[in-house]
Amino acid sequence: MATPVMDKAEATAKTDASPYITVTFRIRRFNPEVSEHAVWEDFPIEIDPKERVLDGLHKIKWDVDGTLTFRRSCAHGICGSDAMRINGKNRLACKTLIKDINPEKPITIEAIKGLTVLKDLVVDMEPFFQAYRDVMPFLVAEGNEPTRERLQSAEDRERFDDTTKCILCAACTSSCPVFWNDGQYFGPAAIVNAHRFIFDSRDDAGEQRLEILNDKDGVWRCRTTFNCTDACPRGIEVTKAIQEVKRALITRRF
Ligand code: SF4
Ligand code: F3S
Ligand code: FES
Repeated sequence: MATPVMDKAEATAKTDASPYITVTFRIRRFNPEVSEHAVWEDFPIEIDPKERVLDGLHKIKWDVDGTLTFRRSCAHGICGSDAMRINGKNRLACKTLIKDINPEKPITIEAIKGLTVLKDLVVDMEPFFQAYRDVMPFLVAEGNEPTRERLQSAEDRERFDDTTKCILCAACTSSCPVFWNDGQYFGPAAIVNAHRFIFDSRDDAGEQRLEILNDKDGVWRCRTTFNCTDACPRGIEVTKAIQEVKRALITRRF
């Protein structure tokens, strides 16, 4: 079979073809020192659509407007610090490719909902972390100290494997309509982290955590909306974990 031959002009055009296109980042800006109202601001930038939303935000911050404020640390989906609402859905900016979210239209970017916005895309995470701390997110193993590591079967480890993947990004809690309502609900992230220890066979504080979540602002406020599961960048079955905690509360078996 004859090998297709590229003529010279075609080859040059291919080498010269720039991957860059103009994409408009439409960002909801808020600076309490300037105004009590948030405003949308457009930033048209030249960017390769194979890059991530975080790369676009860096470009704006470093080359266009240094006052743009957002959190990020690892840039690789591990630290959970750059959850934001991108085109109306909670996502991690570092895990969202521009080409996957229709770069032909302006990309809207705003802070996650339900937590107080401090500046631009930065929210006050304290209520979120308080709920996390309240469920005792650590192993409580009582009795004699073992002389070797505390053994666990593969099946027992599997029971809470999914909920160990949480990176505390708050994408779930800040996409939950119950949490938006009054911010008092513990929220899916705290329940996921309680689940991780309640179903750990080495842990002895399951009852205590269940009682904490039996509160009027605990698991029973979940209306099985599934926004949390859709939003989780780690693919955790958040609603399923909440259901398992509810079932454990009823049966006291975990
Ligand atoms: Fe983020 Fe998922 Fe953990 Fe919620 S459960 S905080 S969405 S990683
Ligand atoms: Fe909220 Fe998730 Fe329940 S979105 S209502 S916590 S299923
Ligand atoms: Fe760490 Fe995105 S910057 S998860």
